[in-house]
Amino acid sequence: MTFNDRASTLSLLTSRRSGKARDMVAPGPDADELAAMLAAAMRVPDHGKLAPWRFVVVAAGARAALEAALVESYTAEKPEAGRAELEAMRSFAHHAPCLIVLMARLREESHIPLWEQQLSVGAAAMQLLNAGHALGYVGNWLTGWPAYSEAVAARLGEAGERVAGFFFFGTAAKPLEERPRPEPGAVVRHWTG
Ligand SMILES: Cc1cc2nc3c(=O)[nH]c(=O)nc-3n(C[C@H](O)[C@H](O)[C@H](O)COP(=O)(O)O)c2cc1C
Repeated sequence: MTFNDRASTLSLLTSRRSGKARDMVAPGPDADELAAMLAAAMRVPDHGKLAPWRFVVVAAGARAALEAALVESYTAEKPEAGRAELEAMRSFAHHAPCLIVLMARLREESHIPLWEQQLSVGAAAMQLLNAGHALGYVGNWLTGWPAYSEAVAARLGEAGERVAGFFFFGTAAKPLEERPRPEPGAVVRHWTG
C-alpha cells in the first residue's frame, strides 16, 4: 500500500456519513459490488471464530413480500394500529435500491461472552457501511420496530437469529446533511498512569 493509498483510505473512513434511506434512489450496488461489500463485512474480528453474523440480502423482487411481512407482524402485535403507522411499515419495506438485513446469530453455549459476539456483529455492520461508501454509495443503518419484532426476525432469518439492523444502500437523491460530531477532546482521553 502506498502513502497515497493509505491517505485516501483514511479520508474515506473520515468522510463517511449516512443518508436517509427514504431519500435513496438508483443506482445501488450491483451483484459484484454487493459481493465485495459482504466480503468486507465478513472480515471482522471474531473471537472464537463463531461468525455470529448472517447477511440476508433482500431480493429486489421481494420488497412486496417484505411489506406484507412487516404489516402482518405489526398488526398482529398492535391490532389497533392506525393508517399512518401501517404506512410507515409499508414505505420502510420499499426504501432504497439495495437492502441487506444483518442478523446476529449469537451462540449462548459458547465460552465467548455474548458481549464480544455482539461487538463482532457491530464490526460487520460498520464494514458493510464503509464498503458501500468506498464504492460510492450512501448507506443507512436503521432499526426501529421491525428490528425488535420477533415475528419479523422469524420471517427474515433462521431460528436463534435477531435483527441487528436494516442496511439500505443507494444513491443520495439530495445532498447529505452533516451532523454535529463530537470534539475529540470530549471522547478521547490519554491515560498516563
Ligand atoms: C444500532 C443503530 C441503529 C440505528 N437505528 C436508527 C433508526 O432506526 N432510525 C434512525 O433515524 N437512525 C438510526 N440510527 C442512526 C443512523 O444509522 C446514522 O448513524 C445517523 O443517522 C447518522 O450518523 P452517521 O452519518 O455517522 O452514520 C441507528 C444507528 C445505530 C448504530
